[in-house]
Amino acid sequence: MNKNFFLNVELGARSYPILIGSGLLREAGLLDPYVNGRDVLIVTNDQLVPLYLQAAEQLTSKSRVQTLVLPEGESAKTLDTLNLIFDALVEHRYGRDCVLIALGGGVIGDITGFAAASWQRGVDFIQIPTTLLAQVDSSVGGKTAVNHPGGKNLIGAFHQPLCVVSDMDTLHSLPERELGAGLAEVIKYGLLGDAEFFGWLEQEYAGLLQQDKERLQHVVRRSCELKAQIVAADEREHGRRALLNLGHTFGHAIERCAGYGEWLHGEAVAAGMCMAAAFSERIGWLDAASVERTRALVSAFGLPVAPPQVSPTDFLAAMSLDKKVIAGQIRLVLLRGIGRAEVTADYAEHELVQFLSEQFVS
Ligand code: NAD
Ligand code: GLY
Repeated sequence: MNKNFFLNVELGARSYPILIGSGLLREAGLLDPYVNGRDVLIVTNDQLVPLYLQAAEQLTSKSRVQTLVLPEGESAKTLDTLNLIFDALVEHRYGRDCVLIALGGGVIGDITGFAAASWQRGVDFIQIPTTLLAQVDSSVGGKTAVNHPGGKNLIGAFHQPLCVVSDMDTLHSLPERELGAGLAEVIKYGLLGDAEFFGWLEQEYAGLLQQDKERLQHVVRRSCELKAQIVAADEREHGRRALLNLGHTFGHAIERCAGYGEWLHGEAVAAGMCMAAAFSERIGWLDAASVERTRALVSAFGLPVAPPQVSPTDFLAAMSLDKKVIAGQIRLVLLRGIGRAEVTADYAEHELVQFLSEQFVS
């Protein structure tokens, strides 16, 4: 039986709840305790309007509610699009007491969060994530951003939401490929910090692919619990939070080398995690059986286990653009075991160069 669930991200005065369940968007007035009659701007995109906008508008019963529909997709995650939010706030004369609501996937969540972080030096916002990726990752933890032509998420701020509402029912309309991209981030949580959860995913992958609601809810709940613990311990990524980037240094290089938009972020992270596991084995951290389990689970979810064939030199150059690079040294999240990840620069550069040259021999 599906039961709605509630967990808290513990950040002192900025703590907030994550509501996870079915039918949440049908609960008229659900957000009243958070909004308290203040002016609301719902930010969404053209694909989501016919699906969930009407429901979202009913979640506050005592507020003036306006809606802004942005263009869809990663290519719209720009300063120009951000400006459309500010234009709407000016047009509707919304002040410091307004509340923004992000209704959509990670793109809408990140851009709306950044608008909330900067409008009149910071206003409240609420996340209603509608993709699996956004429910398990981007809606939690307060990272907000837009892209710059020079790179992804280069302009942003930490700004925590007032609450997160994850309604499992929104996943019904999600294209299969987008569901897979979210499952990659789910595998990440098992690999980086919860071997038991990883084992559960190995057992239950078939039900997840069939979108079994109870299993999906378990996945969202466990992923949010793991992320909430890490964020509570290291909100601004001075240390442990970097573990959440497992597979991302390789993955971002895949996205860049393949051409942005060719691979979904989650697909690139999936192949990136396989590369991180294989490189962990190469430097003597991880056993071959764990590398194989990683590949098998990624593959079971229909996700890619290897990068596209590109030049290893270009790939290394793309890896060196990573935000975790310090003093020219690429820090990687590598594995000591399933469920045991560490951030490290403790490897010889020639080992990485050799490893990459082998990955890209066709
Ligand atoms: P997305 O927001 O582009 O959504 C994917 C597609 O699904 C879009 O076309 C969207 O319109 C559509 N969609 C959304 N919900 C739907 C639904 N319920 N039914 C049908 N279609 C639906 O992509 P995403 O994967 O959700 O998010 C990716 C973004 O998240 C990237 O920009 C990435 O940088 C960011 N991100 C941020 C964090 C963070 O911590 N802030 C973490 C991970 C990723
Ligand atoms: N998705 C990485 C983070 O939130 O830190």
